[in-house]
Amino acid sequence: MNSQTSYAPGRAELLGNHTDYNEGYVLALAVDRGTTLTGQASGDRTIRIHSRELNQDVVVDLDHLAAENVAPWSRYILGVVDQFRRHDLPVEGFSVEITSNLPLGAGLSSSASLENATVLFLSKLFGAKLDPMQMARISQKAEHDFVGVRCGLLDQIASLMSTAHHATTIDCRTNEVGHVPLDGKTSIIIANSGVKHALVGGEYNERRSDCEAAAHALGVRFLRDATTDQLKARQSELAERIYHRALHITGENERVLEGSDALRHGDLARFGQLMFESHESSRFNFENSCPELDHLVATARQTPGVYGARLSGGGFGGATINLIEKGREDEVVHALTAALPGVSCLVTEAADGALAYAASHPA
Ligand code: GLA
Repeated sequence: MNSQTSYAPGRAELLGNHTDYNEGYVLALAVDRGTTLTGQASGDRTIRIHSRELNQDVVVDLDHLAAENVAPWSRYILGVVDQFRRHDLPVEGFSVEITSNLPLGAGLSSSASLENATVLFLSKLFGAKLDPMQMARISQKAEHDFVGVRCGLLDQIASLMSTAHHATTIDCRTNEVGHVPLDGKTSIIIANSGVKHALVGGEYNERRSDCEAAAHALGVRFLRDATTDQLKARQSELAERIYHRALHITGENERVLEGSDALRHGDLARFGQLMFESHESSRFNFENSCPELDHLVATARQTPGVYGARLSGGGFGGATINLIEKGREDEVVHALTAALPGVSCLVTEAADGALAYAASHPA
């Protein structure tokens, strides 16, 4: 039987926190680990999914897909199948095995990696022709409808469209994606705090609503349309919490633009400062950090060889991203693991996204 394999990596958010659904700017990258799907068409209407890591199976009928009836981990796959059906894309029954070397719930978006791998797998198996942005949108919509997180497009785009040795710039209004070379003298360390974040339906969606309330109060469509100066001038018109949420977003957008320039000029010191400022704003304005992440960032700040560190992704637990001088990985990993019991570090370079990876690994 005609077997197909697909792979999509996890991502890390370098700068630009919660800016994506505010139509703002993001700097991200793909990590060198991800999710692999291997399987074949079953010739009937049955979907059989086996997760090797969880050692669990889910078997469902293609014509009766419902998020509430299936194990939560399988919703990322079945949500994509559901989107294929809603978009009248070709899809039939199949059997698939998932393997992953990406830690779950560690802020590396194992979810987008699984969604994107599913989009690629189904496209190969049943012959759908999708452009990269359509793929990203299908993954995102699967997460909205089947998982219940109203995420932006950062994770899906970074996992699909990143390029090795580069940071990926995303303008979340125009969906323009670019690549800025990351100085060859850097490494990335993802420090997983071990604190599980539960984005599903919870604080993530509340932050999104706060941002929408701020945009409404300011009379703009999205916070992308406001600057920090404009916001400060109208502080008295906004409830305090809403004001601080908005301040995080306008500040993040400005930091991403400045940070992209700093990277283009090889100014890693300035870029690192912007990362620390971003974390401080998460901690104080957006309140999506936690004591463990704050401690990891404070430790990084005092560790030689670290340019910058901040929480990466949704927050409320998960991981910090540390941009460091290449060659100092062991020292920094040692400092971070000594600072917090249970922390685990992953050293990565900016890797190829799923599309570049597929192009260099033809089936
Ligand atoms: C999660 C979401 C993304 C983005 C980040 C925060 O990873 O899935 O869309 O909003 O949080 O920047």
